[in-house]
Amino acid sequence: MKTALRDLALFGGPVVFAEPLHVGRPNIPDRDGLMKRVAEALDRGRLTNFGPLVREFEARVAEVAGTRHCVAVCNATVGLQVLICAAGLRGEVIVPSFTYVATPHALWWEGVTPIFCDIDPETGNLDPAQVARLITDRTTGILGVHVWGRPCAVDELRALADEHDLQLLYDSAHAIGCGKAGRPVGSFGRAEVFSFHATKFVNAFEGGAIVTDDDALAARVRSVHYFGFDDGGDVVSVGTNAKMNEISAAMGLTSLDHLPGLLARNRANHERYVRGLAGVPGVRVREPAPDEVSNHQFVTVDVDAGTAGFDRDALAAVLRAENVLVRTHFDPCCHRRAPYRDRPEVHSPLPLPHSEALSSRVMQLPTGMSIEDHHIDQICEIVRLCSTLGPAVSVKGSLRDL
Ligand SMILES: Cc1ncc(COP(=O)(O)O)c(C=O)c1O
Repeated sequence: MKTALRDLALFGGPVVFAEPLHVGRPNIPDRDGLMKRVAEALDRGRLTNFGPLVREFEARVAEVAGTRHCVAVCNATVGLQVLICAAGLRGEVIVPSFTYVATPHALWWEGVTPIFCDIDPETGNLDPAQVARLITDRTTGILGVHVWGRPCAVDELRALADEHDLQLLYDSAHAIGCGKAGRPVGSFGRAEVFSFHATKFVNAFEGGAIVTDDDALAARVRSVHYFGFDDGGDVVSVGTNAKMNEISAAMGLTSLDHLPGLLARNRANHERYVRGLAGVPGVRVREPAPDEVSNHQFVTVDVDAGTAGFDRDALAAVLRAENVLVRTHFDPCCHRRAPYRDRPEVHSPLPLPHSEALSSRVMQLPTGMSIEDHHIDQICEIVRLCSTLGPAVSVKGSLRDL
């Protein structure tokens, strides 16, 4: 490991990591297991339309989520659209701006107006007090997001939804395997949607799942995700084609087979980052609360520029120059993106100071199966070197001028 400041790439030294380290590099825990399932699917000649692999995947996801029903879908974005349609949301739905743009887009696509709400700066999730202020007679639901797998303030949001007769749904794209107070994510809302995109720690190449304990809603979701057919083969409503295919299910099942190992690896990586960055002024790895279980698929670092002497963008620039391809989710927030930024008076009736502030101070570091202990140690060392430089760390590359 190079430790001298002047060895950093921004000083003209060689890049610390010859190969880029990615956030969200796909976990492929068992090629042979995957290939066996794929071969069996090919031999059966059943590639899609509710084959045995999709059925098994649905049962296994429902088990992890602790719900009675699971409908596997082609991705979480379309899954959200299917759920919004099946649940009959209309008018306005309250949603965080601090999320991936798929969340409000799914509402927009279904003709529902997303109303952006500010967050609790500690959790990154919907602030129930702000949600309460945004409820109008046009509101039909709340769509929370368990950002980075941290469960929302589920009890407070449930109380608000009950009081105002609103539907409470969750975008749980980040949160398979997470939980709070002994309950797994999946059963907190009337229904929740997981993502199994290749970048998620349990992946199905592309994929998603809608989970619920509501029998009637599950039947409608199943129908809407399959052209509007009912069990008897009649088309009973408008629907789309959101089915998961067998090859995606093969990958999803193989990932789930290795869920404990993947979780243990993520947890160990997270703890190593926490130890490695302990005591660096102004730089903090975000951690779950004591009553929460995290899948640790995101290692999120918070940079307090006032204390660190440099801001998130400066640190990200140094790390990227060393081939550590950090991500900055979610910057900009959704209310700063098209089409929502064009009608702030509709989508952002209240200011969003905590969303704005958080989006400028956090970044995600690489984790998962491909990241080894020495990678983490070197990344932490680079951050420590930046800390000794303070304000000289700049996105403008002023390290060269020292
Ligand atoms: C919060 C959130 N919601 C929805 C999605 C969309 O998931 P998918 O890629 O499966 O459509 C993502 C993707 O990363 C996400 O981060």
